[in-house]
Amino acid sequence: LKCLFVASEVAPYAKTGGLADVAGALPKQLKENGIDVRVAMPYYKQIENKFFEHESHFVTSFDMWLNWRKEGVGIYYDDTIVPTYFIRSEHYFHRDGFYGEYDDYERFAFFCKSVLEMLKHIDFKPDIIHCNDWQTGPICLLLNQKYRLDPFYEKIKSVFTIHNMKFQGIFGKEQVLDVLELDEGYTSSEAIEFNGGMSFMKAGLLYCDQISTVSPTYAEEIKTWEYGCGLNELLEKKLYHKVCGILNGIDYERYNPQTDPYIYERYDAEHIERRKLNKRAFQREYGLEQSDAMMIGIISRITDQKGFDLMKQTLENKWIMDKIMDMDIQFVLLGTGEYEYEQMFKYFEEKYDKRVSINLKFDEELAQKIYASSDVFLMPSAFEPCGLGQMMAMRYGSVPVVRQTGGLKDTVLHYNEETKEGTGFEFVDYCGYWLFKKIEEAYYYYKEKPSHFKQIQVNAMNTCFSWQHSAEVYEEMYRRIME
Ligand code: GLC
Repeated sequence: LKCLFVASEVAPYAKTGGLADVAGALPKQLKENGIDVRVAMPYYKQIENKFFEHESHFVTSFDMWLNWRKEGVGIYYDDTIVPTYFIRSEHYFHRDGFYGEYDDYERFAFFCKSVLEMLKHIDFKPDIIHCNDWQTGPICLLLNQKYRLDPFYEKIKSVFTIHNMKFQGIFGKEQVLDVLELDEGYTSSEAIEFNGGMSFMKAGLLYCDQISTVSPTYAEEIKTWEYGCGLNELLEKKLYHKVCGILNGIDYERYNPQTDPYIYERYDAEHIERRKLNKRAFQREYGLEQSDAMMIGIISRITDQKGFDLMKQTLENKWIMDKIMDMDIQFVLLGTGEYEYEQMFKYFEEKYDKRVSINLKFDEELAQKIYASSDVFLMPSAFEPCGLGQMMAMRYGSVPVVRQTGGLKDTVLHYNEETKEGTGFEFVDYCGYWLFKKIEEAYYYYKEKPSHFKQIQVNAMNTCFSWQHSAEVYEEMYRRIME
């Protein structure tokens, strides 16, 4: 089985979010399971500086036509983890940052077309091209509509995975028709038109052979008005038969409290009390009071999706705020995002400097320290296709307090004192009161019933979220659509 896995970001080469983690880990597991999998991604400027300076990684180059434009493409290669091809273009990718440019439609149309053209030059004919998110949507369209006529591409099937329904890649009609060389017919709402523009995500959904998303619950949610971002009817009425949900995993080698080089003290589920040493060391390093306070950690993009508007609403409620500050808790945040929320947390840090630590940056090392030191991990997302933070937290024995949505619902089980089953705490309604209530509940177990709290930690640590199983499910899916 041969598979080409295409993504706009792949860890460790380039990362802005969870997609990169998945694109870094899933192909690795597929390879271990015996699949001939290769990865393709853009050759961003950042990669050049970080990973390979010299030309030894060069494979081939060719000219690419994007309608009337001609651009040179260089293909570079690295197989440190999984055989990976980098699509290089001075003009389109030698810039700061990854997305959000005025000509993204042109950049990613170029990327998609180059990926398809590249296959002939490297003489790799995959059975499956596995696309991810809007940046790769045009691959499904081109493959299904244009390249089908070419015997080289005739039998190749495509999978389109949705990591986030909210980002759809919507651009002007003329521009998209131009770069993808499409006729007017594609501007119909039956094709890729969306709200007056043209949607790259829709190009993926409509023309792929199989749609998947990153958790079973999210696969259902996107068919509803609340979560479907305007594509719910299409998914529910027309495409339902090709939608499935496969839960992401996390990299169990990398995220392992027994071997983690970044944390202060290593431990496992049998030695959970050693986490306290981590907490103490963390408090020392980050200027927090040395105490048994319940430490709440958040590691996240600071956006509304992750529940920051809800946190703001909660913290601005004086009644709740007083109650929270009466509790013996500490709060640690790591992440970057919207200025408004960053400033709000900075203000709290100044006000409660011995109890609050705000770190507005991206830092893997610090992230792992927080997973190992915090008692509770907060993730009150408005929506969450899968979510990786809660799984990492559980792996390290930090108890997740989450909103019951998407992948959070599929991975966290609310604790039941009677049966001693459960791995965290969940609330349903997106409101500050319930967020507070669940923190209070966690606090109650932490302070009043420590043996139960420990039970939750052990349960969490013993839940398995490795890629092994999910990769098998992907493989089954590949084989099914190849038939
Ligand atoms: C996106 C989603 C997140 C998911 C990740 C990887 O970042 O927001 O929920 O875990 O993709 O699939």
